[in-house]
Amino acid sequence: MTHAQTQQIAGRLDGMIVAITGAAQGIGFAMAQRLAADGARIAIADIDADRAEQAAARLRADGHDAIGLSVNVVEREQCEAMVSHIVEHYGRLDMMVCNAGVVQVKRFQDIEAEDWDPIFAVNVKGVFFTVQAAAKQMQKQTALGDGRPKGKIVTLSSIAGRYGAGPMAPIIPHYRASKAAVISITQSAAYTFAPDITVNAICPGLVDTDMWKKIDQQWSDIEQWESGQAWRTRVAAVPLGRAQTPGDVAGLAAFLASPDADYMTGQSLNIEGGLTMS
Ligand SMILES: NC(=O)c1ccc[n+]([C@@H]2O[C@H](COP(=O)([O-])OP(=O)(O)OC[C@H]3O[C@@H](n4cnc5c(N)ncnc54)[C@H](O)[C@@H]3O)[C@@H](O)[C@H]2O)c1
Repeated sequence: MTHAQTQQIAGRLDGMIVAITGAAQGIGFAMAQRLAADGARIAIADIDADRAEQAAARLRADGHDAIGLSVNVVEREQCEAMVSHIVEHYGRLDMMVCNAGVVQVKRFQDIEAEDWDPIFAVNVKGVFFTVQAAAKQMQKQTALGDGRPKGKIVTLSSIAGRYGAGPMAPIIPHYRASKAAVISITQSAAYTFAPDITVNAICPGLVDTDMWKKIDQQWSDIEQWESGQAWRTRVAAVPLGRAQTPGDVAGLAAFLASPDADYMTGQSLNIEGGLTMS
């Protein structure tokens, strides 16, 4: 393949079958929109079945091929059923994006078992079971093309899982630990499933979604700040001078889906406006 051909293929995902968990809104939905615009067929899977179907209907209204599915990623059987459903509908699964995640803001010393468990259930166990189910299917498939992997898996970690310091360390330690675990799972999976499947993690920064609205609210409540102050203070520290949009994250997912990323596996890629530069 010549360099010119590589350039031509990059970003064109015609016919690629992509599933994204937690894609009824936020970063997941932005990735669905972007990958669909690049030609992929999309399965939007979310714990909220109605909103998953509504999100898929939005993609279809824009002329794309999309289905909505219900999944609670905490349940191993549901992850397997999700993949079976996609294979029944589309014939195979080329890319799985393990995006579903939850957050809670609470001081380190106040965190109890009932705070810890749901964070680890969704963010860690949920990613693990989603990777398991996707990899089981992908290993049975033919390659995406000559010399290409059989499938691609992308996980959503965070800068919260990448660096130790920072003003949020005292208030989201369980979330940060869960996102560090996602990086570890990504590396174990990349090693286990090479050369058939590439597995990489995306580590976003401060993305303007409902998740950050919740962080702002809970953090502001703890500090007795006015609503919006936590968000504005954090965004002011971003070297590139603005908050991250879900679309910023989607561009990296489109790259990872493309042949240009076929030689990359086990990596955790920061996309955070220079917030950590780590
Ligand atoms: N927003 C940020 O600043 C930011 C930064 C770094 C990483 N992330 C990560 O990116 C991912 C998406 O974040 P977002 O900001 O779009 O969040 P969001 O809260 O806007 O959306 C999360 C989606 O996941 C779904 N979901 C929750 N639990 C689920 C479960 N058990 N099974 C299936 N679906 C479930 C929700 O219904 C929702 O649609 C998360 O993993 C998050 O940790 C977000």
